[in-house]
Order: sequence, then structure tokens, then C-alpha cells
Amino acid sequence: MSFSFSKEAIEDLKSRIDIVDVIGRNVHLQKAGANYKGLCPFHNEKTPSFIVSPQKQIFTCFGGCGASGDVVSFVERYYNLEFNDAVEKLADEYGIDIKKNVYKSDDREKYYDINREAARFFYRNMTEKKNAGYTYMKKRGISDTVIKKFGLGYAENSWDSLYSYFNEKGTDPELLVELGLLSKKENRYYDKFRNRVIFPIINTAGKVIGFGGRALDSQTMPKYLNSPENRVFQKKNNLYGLNLTRQDIGKDGCAIIVEGYMDAISLFQYGVKNVAASLGTALTENQAKLVSRYTKNVILSYDADDAGQKAALRGIEVLRGENCKVKVLHVTDGKDPDEYIKKNGRDAFIRLTEKAMPYIEYKIEAAKRGLDILTEDGKIDYMRRISPILADLSPVECDIYIKKISSDTGISEGAIKMEISGNSITKKEETGRLRNHPPESMSVIPSLEATVLKCLFIDPEFAEKVLPCSELFRSDLGKKTINIIFELYGLYGDMSMDQVTDRLDPAESETLKDSLDKIIISGNENEVLDQCIHRWRYEKLLNRERELRDILSLADENDRQSVDRLTKELMMIQKEMKSHGGKM
Ligand code: UTP
Ligand code: MN
Repeated sequence: MSFSFSKEAIEDLKSRIDIVDVIGRNVHLQKAGANYKGLCPFHNEKTPSFIVSPQKQIFTCFGGCGASGDVVSFVERYYNLEFNDAVEKLADEYGIDIKKNVYKSDDREKYYDINREAARFFYRNMTEKKNAGYTYMKKRGISDTVIKKFGLGYAENSWDSLYSYFNEKGTDPELLVELGLLSKKENRYYDKFRNRVIFPIINTAGKVIGFGGRALDSQTMPKYLNSPENRVFQKKNNLYGLNLTRQDIGKDGCAIIVEGYMDAISLFQYGVKNVAASLGTALTENQAKLVSRYTKNVILSYDADDAGQKAALRGIEVLRGENCKVKVLHVTDGKDPDEYIKKNGRDAFIRLTEKAMPYIEYKIEAAKRGLDILTEDGKIDYMRRISPILADLSPVECDIYIKKISSDTGISEGAIKMEISGNSITKKEETGRLRNHPPESMSVIPSLEATVLKCLFIDPEFAEKVLPCSELFRSDLGKKTINIIFELYGLYGDMSMDQVTDRLDPAESETLKDSLDKIIISGNENEVLDQCIHRWRYEKLLNRERELRDILSLADENDRQSVDRLTKELMMIQKEMKSHGGKM
């Protein structure tokens, strides 16, 4: 964890926000005496038993699911966020400035510092003297304001300008190699970015995590050179521009996702500020999670070419997985949103967003591609492609689309319905069959668990240390893996990745490997492992502490016995938390 908020800052935030207002945006609340009442959003219920207390500024579900907490824990649960992110979201939404305490102990900080220094260096090259990068951006119509806002820079046409700069400062060049700013050949270091416009990639915490560098002509390959994946940069976890646009996205209640750096910058310059770029990759699950923290309404505006349209289809599925309402915007002039808005201006682009296709319509349209639906074969293939799409819809939606398709193709509504019902039967059989396979929730290992596993694979003897903390594993696959490890270690006093994956299903070992790949351990594994265990213990205490405080604040004061017992437990826990150093 690289930062935290002080207790006072959080208390201050809470005192300025009304829990009734926050929850009332998502749950229909009705006044009931001194409190408000509604249907619990955390479990299915027919009669409201979810109580929000404006006096105590807490919520509690009396309907069996037991959810309870303060405004921050509501946001954590409702939006599936971590504590710090929930605090940030509230602060953002209510325009409250909240101070962060940054812990320097995290060694990622030194990488961020170098990246920031490099970004400043590139920015000075861009803005302080005449240079080819500036000329290029001007030719593309980018304003000085936007150059400043996005911190765009220029890497000179030199093999060692960045290297010399950092060399003089005494920075370890190996760190620069790790970050992909230098490359090393035969013990010599070279600048990686040369004669390119530099787009610093900045995360929502304001850290420079990587760079994209655009070539200034169409011959130089690659067109964009990007930072390699490293300790602080994982392309799939970030959206370009979101650091500048998330407030607008939240305010507008809608995000436009584009493919490229230039698309994001260009839309921003024209005043379409609720934009972020997925950077050429198909949208990933983490990117979808990231954007859905700010809004559930997403418009995909990908390039007009085939690749862009395929990426949109995949993006739809990923966003649907995060319960987003997805629309697809098709630029009708030019190859991408950048070209479109330059030619047609802001208002025309806004009109396109208003006419963006709901994802179902888009999928139905896309299914026509390559088919001639006026021919018999074309009609049959088309029906095959779209019936699974329609089978997923509510009856009313389905009816609307059936009418459209019928008039489009000349196939009778009855025949379309039959085709769909055939499809929903096979679909049900299939889901029945799939049930026998591990459910999806099994297929992720949370990062804390994955980090511990990774340490164990580095040094199996850590098993002794992990054994008393095996509760830390809560995901199904995490539990299964750790049990296999304990068993092997118990038998042989050793174990290896291969021995473990041998005992997992192929899909499970794939997931395990993927999860471990995401974890990069730099530095001492022993310390990393200790931190993990520490964090888990602290979180456990923190959860119980919150729970106790909530129970106590709602407890019947006449029930002295329970109140005393709970108060004692609370005091014990608070003492223990203090001995943990009071932070994670
Ligand atoms: P595009 O080729 O559509 O580029 O790639 P663009 O963003 O429209 O840029 P301009 O207008 O030609 O300058 C979309 C995105 O794919 C990634 C980049 O993130 C780019 O913005 N990409 C593309 C690369 O990473 N490397 C490449 O060589 C090409
Ligand atoms: Mn472009």
C-alpha cells in the first residue's frame, strides 16, 4: 500500500457527507421514524429491512445478511472497492480535498520518482526549445494547453540524452533499464525513446507509470513505442487519460472509451472530456473495473476498421461482465474519433454519442457482416448468429428486436421466435453442463493470496510460516493450491510449481500461472511475505473493529451484558491494532 489517509482526514470527510444522501442515490429510502428504510442492496429481499441512521451515520441490514457500516464501508461494498479507493471516490464526488499520507517504505516510489523526472525532462525538451516533436504536434493541431495538461514531451534524436541527464544525477542506470527508458547492449546504455513525441501514462493516483512514444513519420517502426511491463506499469490495469478525466466521467455519468492516445487527447481538446483510452489492446477486465468505479455507462468508440470493430465486440462482453450499460459509437467520417472530431467538430461528435447504438443493436448489426441477408443462405446464417444474442434478452426487448429483424430480412416473427427458443434450450443445457465445471468465482486468485503463493514457490520453506495463517486463503483456487502445497511440503519437505500444477485441472493451473504472473516481487521475499501476513492480520482486526463499532452503536443500551462483552472485545482489538503500528 503506497498511501493511506489519516484517521482525522477520514473523520473530516465523513462529517461533511451525509450517508442518507450517498445511499439514497442507489437505494430507494423512505423515512421511518428517526431513520430511513429501504430494500437491502446486498441481498435479495421483498420487505425493506435495510436501515440508515442519519444520527449515527451508519447503515444496518436487519434482514439476515448482516451488512452494516458507515458511509465508507457502504461505498466499498456497493462498488466493490478497496477502502482507500472508496474514500477517494467519496472525496471526488463531493469535491472534498483529502490529504494522503504517502508511505515511502514502498519501493515502488523510487520508480515513480524516476518516471516523473523523465516525464519532466521530456516535457522540457518539448516546451523550452524548438524541436521536431512540437512541430509534429502543432501540425496535428494540438494546442499548447493540451500539451501542458497531458504533459506531452519530446525525446530528442539522440542515443544518450536521457542517459546523460540521469547519469549526472547519479541515478542507477539499471533502474532506468527496468523501466524501459534505457536499453543495455554490451555493457553500454542507450536511450530507448529517440525522436518521438512522448505521452506519459499517469494513473489515477497521479503517478507516472509509463510512456508511449510516437514516431514522427510513417516509416519509423513501431508507430508507438510503449514502456514494457514492469514493477509499476501494467498496461492492462490502466486507462490513458483517466487521471484527468475521471471527475468529468463521474459528473457526466458516462465514459467514452477510445483506442488511442491521440483520440483521447483530441476529444479532450475539443471539450469532450469524459474520455479515456484503452491503448490499442482489447479492453481488459481490470480496465472495465476501473472505469466502472466512476460510471456504469460506457460508450465504446473504437476505430472504424475491422480490428477496431472486433475490439468493440470484445469490449462489450468485458464491460457487461462489470454490469455496465454499453453503447457503441461508430464514427461515420474518418478512421477514428480523432479524425472525426477534427473534421466535424465537437457538436457533431456529441450528436454521434447521443445516437450511439445500444450494444445489442450493435451486435445484431455486426452479425450481418460478411453476409448477404437477401439470399436464403445469408438469412439462415444470420439467424444462427443472432439467435443466441436475442435469447439473452428480456421478453420485451426481445420482442422489439424480433420485429425489427423481421422487417429487415423478411423472415416471419414466428420463425425467428422458434429459432430463439431452440437456442435457449441448447443454452440451458449448456449452462447445466457448465455447472459441473469450476464456477467462475473460482477462477481468480486475489493478489494477497497470489503474492504469498509466489513467495512460497520462491522458497518452499516459507510453508512453516504460512501454515498458521492458512485462513488468509479465501478464494477456492487459493485454498486448493495452498492445501496441495502443505501436503507436498509435509511429505517431502519441498515442492515445486510443476508438482502443484500436476494436481490441478488444466484450467486451474492456467489461472494459477496467470495470477502469479501478475505479481512482481522485487526485493526480499521474506519481507514481502511478512508484509502480506501483517496486512491480512490487520485487515481481520479492522473488519472486526468496524463490525463491533456498528453493532455497539445500534445495540440496545439496556442489554448491559452484551454491551459490556462487545465493548471489552472492541478494546482488546483496538489495543492489538495499535501494537500493529496502526497501519497496513
Ligand atoms: P492507432 O494505430 O489507431 O493509432 O493505434 P492512433 O492512436 O490513432 O494514433 P495516430 O492518430 O495514428 O497518431 C491505437 C493505439 O494502439 C497502440 C497505441 O496505444 C495507439 O494509440 N499502438 C498502436 C501501439 O501501442 N503501438 C503501435 O505501433 C500502434
Ligand atoms: Mn489516429
